[in-house]
Amino acid sequence: MKKLKRILKWTGIILLVLVTGTAIVTASRQNMKYDAPYPEIHASKDSAVISKGRHIANAIAHCNDCHSKSNNDSLLSLGQDVPLSGGVGFTLPVGTIYSANITSDSTYGIGKFTDPEVARVLRYGVHPDGTVVYDFMPFHNLSDEDLIAVLSYLRTQKAVSTPKPANDLNLMGNLVKAFLIKPVGPSEKIQAAVKPDSTAEYGKYLVYNVGNCNGCHTERTLSGVYTGEPFAGGNMMPNGMVTPNITPDSSSRIFGWTQQSFIDRFRKGKLIPNTEMPWNSFKRMDDVELKAIYQFLQTVKPAKTKLIPH
Ligand code: HEC
Ligand code: HEC
Repeated sequence: MKKLKRILKWTGIILLVLVTGTAIVTASRQNMKYDAPYPEIHASKDSAVISKGRHIANAIAHCNDCHSKSNNDSLLSLGQDVPLSGGVGFTLPVGTIYSANITSDSTYGIGKFTDPEVARVLRYGVHPDGTVVYDFMPFHNLSDEDLIAVLSYLRTQKAVSTPKPANDLNLMGNLVKAFLIKPVGPSEKIQAAVKPDSTAEYGKYLVYNVGNCNGCHTERTLSGVYTGEPFAGGNMMPNGMVTPNITPDSSSRIFGWTQQSFIDRFRKGKLIPNTEMPWNSFKRMDDVELKAIYQFLQTVKPAKTKLIPH
């Protein structure tokens, strides 16, 4: 009896030490600093470059969808800029993460960061203070030219002096952040410029590196590891909607769509009110971009739509 008590006492102490130890290590790893190169990217004042950046941000890259809580679609339809003041909350199983204020405000926005510091966020996933950027954005392989265009446009943004709410991670979120999350950088050699034309090659660049179509249309785990056939859909969105198959298979949502019907569908914008797909940005893509994406999707391996049990 005495022996059992002693064992219980020691197991208790060991467990306590382990739990406290994990908690201390987890806490100490919350703001880990990482190193990454500073890209030699500098904003331009050339109006053609700025307008290219405006197009990228408000069409395929849909920065406005994640970085603004305004009535984006009506502002853009009126030809006005959307204030990219952030604060949009993304509620995930690990907690709620808020997008940043990326206006030129020098207290709460990116006004206090240098051009290479902002470029490093997007290319290497490291914040100016060295902490990891949660990988919501797919821009790691963006060409120098496109990154310069986006940055040049950001620098024209009027300052909005609103702080973003602090991220609210739960216990699982703290553990994931401490032990699993690492900065994500480029997966291929960065190109100086990518020629916009209606080829599948350009479409592939847009789909993976700018529009993040794969991020929603390929099945993956909660921590972001891809497990499904590319573009076969079946990904459960936070609102419970499941993404459709967009491969050329006969069970695909877009089977039989011509290039023109694909373009026409995008021009209609959002049809399902609570869809997570940023249609109102995507509808602003030009014909060359949409043709290229269509051409690329035709080259994807056909994959069957998985039946989801109810
Ligand atoms: C799918 C949603 C999403 C899209 C699209 C998106 N962002 Fe973000 N962005 C976020 C989130 C969420 C954060 C905060 C990440 C964090 O806290 O680590 C963020 C952070 C940033 C930061 C970091 C700011 C800082 O203070 O360190 C920059 C810069 C940025 N985004 C620029 C852009 C630009 C430019 C675009 C479009 C080309 C864009 N984002 C598109 C969600 C998005
Ligand atoms: C944030 C998640 C998300 C992203 C990013 C996304 N989609 Fe979707 N997509 C969805 C969801 C959810 C649906 C189903 C609801 C709907 O039709 O709006 C959908 C539907 C579609 C449809 C079927 C439309 C119809 O009318 O049947 C096509 C085609 C499509 N997406 C293509 C794309 C392409 C191309 C891209 C990249 C340029 C893309 N999606 C990016 C979530 C996403």
